[in-house]
Amino acid sequence: MGTFLRFLGFWTNDFKVDEATGLTERQKKLVQNTWAIIKKDQVASGCAVMLAYFKEYPQYQQYFGAFKDVPLNELQNNKRFQAHCASIIATLSSVVDSLHDFGLLEANIITLAERHKKRGQTKEEFQNLKEVIRNVLRQALGKQYTMDVSDAWDKTLNVMFLKIYEIIAS
Ligand code: HEM
Repeated sequence: MGTFLRFLGFWTNDFKVDEATGLTERQKKLVQNTWAIIKKDQVASGCAVMLAYFKEYPQYQQYFGAFKDVPLNELQNNKRFQAHCASIIATLSSVVDSLHDFGLLEANIITLAERHKKRGQTKEEFQNLKEVIRNVLRQALGKQYTMDVSDAWDKTLNVMFLKIYEIIAS
């Protein structure tokens, strides 16, 4: 069965590499299908990312005027925090949804990076967030975070964050 499905994959272009992103069509589907699980609950998923981020780098919480002084264990129930967490997932969803159109994907990332650059966010802060997102994906997807899914996400995050670093350095 596996061999047959692989054969079908070759036949249906699943293994064709998109030169702009370096991802195959199959890898894009893996990312989009697993992201569908994460975005089902935008607040919970966004909170998982931001809480892990603030836990590891407490100093970053100070950038967020609306909830900078809220204790970590109360953040989850703070509506301003929840709203911010949901907006992060919504922004990442736009990036994942535009994997088929590299120009659109870049445009989404440029807008995000420029807004953050204006506020003084650094490459290091983004690098740290990238690792946190990767860990949250692994934990949230559990058994569904297979080697193939992991490779597909690594490529997607690399495309996305390399563009962010480029804008921040420009
Ligand atoms: C994939 C990465 C990220 C996504 C998708 C994201 C998403 C967002 C969104 C949607 C907003 C609100 C719209 C705006 O003002 O731009 C925002 C605001 C903000 N983000 Fe990010 N962000 C990311 C990375 C970071 C990083 C690494 C930091 C640094 C710690 C950061 C700090 C902030 C701050 C300080 C604000 C303004 C909050 C306020 O209004 O008080 N973000 N982000």
